[in-house]
Amino acid sequence: MRDLPWPARVYLVAVIGAAAALMARSVIVSGTLVAPEDLDVLLVLALLFLVCESMPTLLNVEQFAVSVSFSAALAAVVLIGPEGAALVGLTAVLSVRPGLPLIKRLFNGAQFAICGYAAGRVYEGLGGQVGVPQVNAFDDLIGPYAAATAVFVPLNIALTLTIVGLATRVRATEVPMRGMAQFLLSYLGYGTFGLLVAGLWATVQSISAVLVLLPLFVARWAFGQYHAQQRSYDATIAALCQAVETKDYYTRGHCTRVSLASSMIAQEIGMGPERVRAIRYAGMLHDVGKLGVPTKVLQKDGPLTEEEFAAIQLHPMRGLEIVRGIGFLDEAYAGIMHHHERHDGTGYPMGLAGDEIPEFAKVIAVADAFDSMTSDRSYRGARPVGEALAELRKTAGTHFDPVMVTAFIRALEREPWQPPRKVEAPPPDETPIKDHDDPTMPIQVVTGQ
Ligand SMILES: [Fe+2]
Repeated sequence: MRDLPWPARVYLVAVIGAAAALMARSVIVSGTLVAPEDLDVLLVLALLFLVCESMPTLLNVEQFAVSVSFSAALAAVVLIGPEGAALVGLTAVLSVRPGLPLIKRLFNGAQFAICGYAAGRVYEGLGGQVGVPQVNAFDDLIGPYAAATAVFVPLNIALTLTIVGLATRVRATEVPMRGMAQFLLSYLGYGTFGLLVAGLWATVQSISAVLVLLPLFVARWAFGQYHAQQRSYDATIAALCQAVETKDYYTRGHCTRVSLASSMIAQEIGMGPERVRAIRYAGMLHDVGKLGVPTKVLQKDGPLTEEEFAAIQLHPMRGLEIVRGIGFLDEAYAGIMHHHERHDGTGYPMGLAGDEIPEFAKVIAVADAFDSMTSDRSYRGARPVGEALAELRKTAGTHFDPVMVTAFIRALEREPWQPPRKVEAPPPDETPIKDHDDPTMPIQVVTGQ
C-alpha cells in the first residue's frame, strides 16, 4: 500500500469504507443481511463465486483479469436480494490467488459488494421480485434483471479502471477503446447466465449453478490457456529479438518499433486481427537472420567486400532458416524473407518486384526504413519524422510500395510517432556499425577484392 500514490490510497480506503458502511447500514435497518432460510442459497452462490474468482482469465491488456464470478453475484440479486448479492461479492476477499496482497483482496471484495448491492437495489426498484422465481413470473423479472446487469458491469469496470488509473497513472482514455468495448459486451452477455441460474433454481436448486456456470467456467479457462500461450509466444519472440539486438548497440529497441509501425500500417490497410498479430511477430523478427551473419562483417567500419555484402544480403534467408520451425509464425515467414525486396525489383534476396513481393514484406520494408532513419546511428543522428516521411514519399514507387507509404502516413496522422530517446554514448568497446536498413546511406561495396 505504501508504494501506491496517495490518490490511489485515498480511493482504496474510500471504496472499502463505502462497502463496510453499506453492510453496516443494512444490518442496522433490517437486523440481518440474509434471512436464515436463504443461507443455503448464499452458501452455494458464494462458493461458486469464490471458485470462479480464484481462477481469473488474464487478458493481454496489462493488469486486467476477468472471471465469470459476477454471474453468481447477479444470480444472488434475484434469489436473495441486494444484501445477499453484496455478501456473495464480498467473498472475493477469500479468493485463492497466491501472492495477491490483502489490500487488493479487500478492494476486490468491496467493489464487488458495492456492485452487487447497487444492482440489487436497481432490480428491486424496477419491480423485480426477490426469491426463487416461479415459471409464470419469469417474464416479469427479465427487464429488472437486464437493468441490474447494466448497472453491475459498468460500475465494476469503472471502479476497477479508476484504481488501475490512480495506481499506474494510466488514464482510462489510454485503455484501447476497441478492446474495452469487446470486454464490456462480453461481460453483459455473460450476465445472462446469472438469470439462467436463478430461473433454473426452482427446478434443480443448487445444481442449477453448476449446470449453468461450469461449462462457462471451463470455456473461460480454455480462453485463459489461449492467452497464456500467446504470452509464451511473445516471450519467445522477445528473447530472439534481444539476441539480435545485442549484436548492435545502436539498434536496441529497433525490432519493437518496427513491429509497432508494421502493425499500424497493417491496421490502416484493413488486415484482420490474426494477420496483424502475425505481422507484429514478423516485425519483431525481421532481422533475426543477423544472428547468422559474422559479427565482424556487421561491425565493419568502411566499405564491404563483395563477399561481405553477400553475407549481409543472406540475412533474410538465414532469418527464415532460424525461425522455420516455429509453427505459429505462418505468414510472418514471407515478411522476414522478403523485407529487403524493392518495389522496382532491385532489392534482395530474390529481386522480386511490385505485386510479386508479399504484402507482409512491403509493410515491414516501410516500417524498417522509417525507424532506421528516425533513430540515432553511430555515423549520424536521428532524422526528424517529417524528413524521414519525405524520404519515404520520394522513394515510393521505386524502393517502397506507394500504398504502404500512404497508409503509414495516414496512420501517423491519427497516432503520432514517438521517436526513440537519444542514444547515450556507447560503451568504449562498442564498434560503430553501418545500418543495412538505412535507405539514405547505402552500404558501400568494394568490387574486385
Ligand atoms: Fe534486414
